Amino acid sequence: MKRFHILTIFPEFFEGFKNTGIVSRAVKNGIVEINAVNLRDYTTDKHKTVDDVVYGGGPGMLLKPEPIFRAYDEISKEKKPYVLITEPWGRKFDQKFAYELSEKDEIVIICGRYEGVDERVKAIVDEEVSIGDFVLSGGEPAAVVIMDAVIRLIPGVVGDKDSLRADSFSEGLLGYPNYTRPPVYRGMEVPEVLRSGNHKLIEIWRRWKQIENTYKKRPDLLKKTNLSEKDRIILESIQSGTNFEDFIEKYNV
Ligand code: ADE
Repeated sequence: MKRFHILTIFPEFFEGFKNTGIVSRAVKNGIVEINAVNLRDYTTDKHKTVDDVVYGGGPGMLLKPEPIFRAYDEISKEKKPYVLITEPWGRKFDQKFAYELSEKDEIVIICGRYEGVDERVKAIVDEEVSIGDFVLSGGEPAAVVIMDAVIRLIPGVVGDKDSLRADSFSEGLLGYPNYTRPPVYRGMEVPEVLRSGNHKLIEIWRRWKQIENTYKKRPDLLKKTNLSEKDRIILESIQSGTNFEDFIEKYNV
C-alpha cells in the first residue's frame, strides 16, 4: 500500500481526482491511499490562521510553519515519509522522477501557496519539485500531476502491463499511433500494415513510428536514449527521407 499525504489549505481540490478513473479504482482496491490533510486543522489559534506577513517587509503572505510541522509530526510518528514541496524552481518532474517516487511507500507533498512558505519548513523537505517552467497559483495542481504519474506505475494499477511498456517515455521514446474501428473514417484510413495480421511487420512499423515521432517532435529525447543497432538503421532511414514501404523493401523484412 502506497500512501500520499497532501498538506494543503484546499483539501476539497483532491476530491475529483480521488474519485475518478484509474486512481479511484486503485484507492478502492487498497493499493493506494490519498490523505488530503487540511492545514487549518493543525493551526494553533482560534482563527485557524495558516498564513502570515513576511518578516523584513514585502508584499503578500507566507504559509506559516506551525501547521505544516504539526501535520508532519503526526504523519511521521511511525515511519519517516519522503517529503516533497511543490515549487516552480524545484527539480523538474519527469518519468524518471515518477519511477523513483513509485518506490517510496509513504510520500508527503506540501502544496505551496501565496508568495511562498516559511523557509524553516525546508528542514523537513527531501526534495523541491516543479512540474514545469511556469507559475501556478498553488501547488495543488502539481500534486495531482505527480500523484497521477506515480500511481499508474504501481504494479496492479494499470490493468495490462503491456500498456505501461508502450507508454511514451518509458524507454525514452514517444509512443506509436493507435487506431480503432472503423477502418476508414471521413476518408482517413487505418494504415494497411495494422490490418495485415503480419505481427512481425506490425512490430517493425510501430518501432519505426516511435523513432519517427521522437525524431520529429522531441529530438532532444533521442540523445538520451540507448538505441539498438536496428533502431539506428531505422533512424538513419528516417533522416534520409526514406519511407516505411521502401525501407521494408530495401531490407527485405
Ligand atoms: N508552484 C507554482 N508553480 C509551480 C510549478 N510550476 N510546479 C510546481 N509547483 C508550483
